[in-house]
Amino acid sequence: MREKKRNLTKNKAKLSINNKTYEFPIYKSTEGESVIDISKLHSIANIFTYDPGFTSTASCESKITFIDGEKGILRYRGYDIEELAKKSDFIEVVNLLIYGDLPNNKQLKKYKRLITRHTLLHDQIINFFQGFRRDAHPMAMMVGVMGALSSFYQDTLDIHDAHQRQEATRRIVAKSATIGAMAYKYSIGQSFVSPKNNLSFSENFLHMCFSNTAEEYKISPILSKAMDTIFILHADHEQNASTSTVRLAGSSGANPFACIAAGVSSLWGPAHGGANQAALEMLEEIGTSKNIRKYLNKAKNKKDPFKLMGFGHRVYKNYDPRAKILKNICQKVLNHVGIKNDPILKLAIDLEKIALREKYFIDKKLYPNVDFYSGIILRAIGFPPEMFTVIFAIARTAGWTAQWTEMIEDPIQKIGRPRQLYTGNKPLKYGKNRSKKNTR
Ligand code: CMC
Repeated sequence: MREKKRNLTKNKAKLSINNKTYEFPIYKSTEGESVIDISKLHSIANIFTYDPGFTSTASCESKITFIDGEKGILRYRGYDIEELAKKSDFIEVVNLLIYGDLPNNKQLKKYKRLITRHTLLHDQIINFFQGFRRDAHPMAMMVGVMGALSSFYQDTLDIHDAHQRQEATRRIVAKSATIGAMAYKYSIGQSFVSPKNNLSFSENFLHMCFSNTAEEYKISPILSKAMDTIFILHADHEQNASTSTVRLAGSSGANPFACIAAGVSSLWGPAHGGANQAALEMLEEIGTSKNIRKYLNKAKNKKDPFKLMGFGHRVYKNYDPRAKILKNICQKVLNHVGIKNDPILKLAIDLEKIALREKYFIDKKLYPNVDFYSGIILRAIGFPPEMFTVIFAIARTAGWTAQWTEMIEDPIQKIGRPRQLYTGNKPLKYGKNRSKKNTR
């Protein structure tokens, strides 16, 4: 492994195993927890660490996103999410995440042009869409088409060429919105709408989703600002499941489109990006505030697989700052579309209020996360629940590509290869002990 200068603390971590003591360096982070470097543990002590779900393991070094889960803080490259949501726009945030600082006006203008140059998809991708069933989940199309981009854009597959890497990241961000909109149009049986490069990223996405051959969609500044804020809030979230998947896939040298397709797959699950769809469906199932108690009891019952979707987080043990911003936008968007008293929003607010008074949720520090309110806004804009995770994926292409780039450019980058605690059989003789179960 190549050496890298790190911010060492004076202290060392000591680990005693069978009367032998081993010492490990501790690196200081700019903010947040320090880390013990145990990368030499196996070679010096012939033992592994065991940490399912990486609850105590830093899998990489990163300068991109900082979260303080106890205080409910989220920062991209040092900037508070609240400030970015108010003052920035999505493409500026993409630029910030990828390049490390805020662009000046000239750089931003140029970057917007570079992104919009890539909003179109290769014409043959239309044939690709036509192979999907109309009733397929749009995330199924997203996974497939994202991976397929590697067959169309072969001039940006060389991960060792910095220019190709940058071009690939711009293609991924720009084309993800077009793919997402096409997946939506395909699922509702309408023809695809071409991107319009004079529009902003968010306006263009709304245009591609809601214009049709007979009618141009009139873009409301309130809705496009809400859409843009949703994109900003979902742009990155340090080493979550899908980002770690992108990094792991990329660590083998796989091309960027394949890596991002792996991230889309990981995001799809209901414990991760799929929670926004699940949260709205849960609110619809609960139906009325009268049923809240019944569902809270289900959530608390360990024998019941039901969880309060849009609640809880691996890192936030406080209110998710993204949920706070979205809660504030909700009413504005609902008023704008003419829903003065949305029963689903009322139910969500009641549910939050009651849950946050319950001992179970207080003790486990379970608060609303980003997925609790985003679905209510997206539904008011006009999206069906199946599109919510697609929208999350479009936004997260920013973080995935920034994290993938950081990983490739890290001098100590090596293939990710976790170890295991093996608890299977010891050596067996073939043919003896055949299974007696009839259940497989
Ligand atoms: N409803 C009821 N109980 C919960 C919930 C919930 N939503 N979330 C966590 N718990 C309980 C969990 O059962 C466990 O109890 P115990 O200690 O008695 O076994 C305890 O709280 C700790 O939870 P955990 O599952 O060990 O925590 P985790 O860090 O592994 O999981 C999570 C985090 C987000 C997967 C989980 O909170 C969850 O499944 N929430 C619902 C799905 C959701 O909203 N996901 C979106 C996350 S934010 C956006 C994103 O990152 O994609």
